[in-house]
Amino acid sequence: MSAVRGEFSSRFGFIMAAAGSAVGLGNIWGFPTQTASNGGAAFLVAYLVLAFCLAYPALMAELTIGRHGQANAVTSLRKISNDGWQKHFAFVVGFGGIICAGLILSFYAIVAGWMISATLEPVATLAGSQTASTWLSEQSLSRDLLFTAGFIILTVAIISKGVENGIEKWSKRLMPALLSILFALIIYVMMQDGAMTGLKAYLVPDFSSILDPELLVSALGQAFFSLSLGTSVMIIYGSYISKKENLVSLGAYVTLIDVFIAFVAGLLIIPAMYVAQAQGVEIFSATGELLSEDTLVFQVLPALFDGMGTIGLFVGFAFFALMSIAALTSSISMLEAPVSYAVERFSLNRLSATWLIGAIIAVVSFTIILNFGTLFGFVIALTTKFGQPLLGLMCCLFVGWIWYRNSLLTEIQQGCPEVANGIFWKIWPWYIKFICPIAIGLVFVSSLLG
Ligand code: PFF
Repeated sequence: MSAVRGEFSSRFGFIMAAAGSAVGLGNIWGFPTQTASNGGAAFLVAYLVLAFCLAYPALMAELTIGRHGQANAVTSLRKISNDGWQKHFAFVVGFGGIICAGLILSFYAIVAGWMISATLEPVATLAGSQTASTWLSEQSLSRDLLFTAGFIILTVAIISKGVENGIEKWSKRLMPALLSILFALIIYVMMQDGAMTGLKAYLVPDFSSILDPELLVSALGQAFFSLSLGTSVMIIYGSYISKKENLVSLGAYVTLIDVFIAFVAGLLIIPAMYVAQAQGVEIFSATGELLSEDTLVFQVLPALFDGMGTIGLFVGFAFFALMSIAALTSSISMLEAPVSYAVERFSLNRLSATWLIGAIIAVVSFTIILNFGTLFGFVIALTTKFGQPLLGLMCCLFVGWIWYRNSLLTEIQQGCPEVANGIFWKIWPWYIKFICPIAIGLVFVSSLLG
């Protein structure tokens, strides 16, 4: 443990924290709904390929920059820059990532607020309060402002405790809880009528759409969002990893867990839709596509839970608790990005920095809520379609073109001395230099054109 900066106390602690950042609403809501609206298993195959071939190398770039810098994103990027323009570029990329993380948190907190109110709704029904239950289930300004603020306060409370006592401790508690609820729900849903039809729709690919540019753009965007790339979050988490740890395998574990949980969440959500259909709920739109996004989570699934009677209240509670936990382990990483910068750059104490930045993010979230129609979609597109791919690409350029190869190898070798002879080192430097920037650039341009 360093006396000045926090550090993850164990390998398990880092894996839970980084996987906690990666596993979020993007996996449990985003991935299954994208799969539902992009040709089922064809999307799954494209996602798996892109996650391992592009997102994992990019994740390794960010973790390595952070572990080498042992500092916030801006300082870490500056440490590998050589002259004046590179140092300015480092500031733009590092600070851009911090702003991107803050903006993602501002819309993520709104969605997480919906999840918490949906978790409490069955509790109100069980307690016999119809008024509270209706208020919790219907969109209103008061409900959205209150739960968004509540969620931000929860995030602030964890981050103010620091790396080991806040991020690591809570990730180690929440991630196993998330996994248990997820598996319990899958077992329950699989026993219902209609589940097997859903399983087939999810797992049998229609390969005709696999090279569709729109599908590839969505799959890469999903992989970047899911691994929290281009936000400086993985740089800062990398900076808390001890020099004794094997970075290559840590990054691989995080990618595997993230992809695995997205896959497993699909095993819950898609069959659940077909179970709902078997109970008479409409799951296809007028144009014949599976309903997705908010209609899926806030209409199809609640209709399914309602049809189950009293047990549906418990299932609904467990489902939305799962979503809320997933959101919280991700949101703490988003807040850590600006907080670590403020603490190190302006020598603020952690507690004040966390509350100050939490307050700024709450103001941005409230502004979005008050101008929902114009701002909500805009902030999501700005951060996830533009910010994350571009900043992720810049991190690859830093590692591939600016960082000296020998010094890069020295960093990767710490905790993993045999790396120079392994397959990772034979492929990764070329990958990060040419393949990742070109592929991310191509997908980015086609997303702009499309
Ligand atoms: N990876 C999270 C998810 O899949 O929901 C979202 C996320 C977390 C995005 C942290 C960006 C970030 F910095």
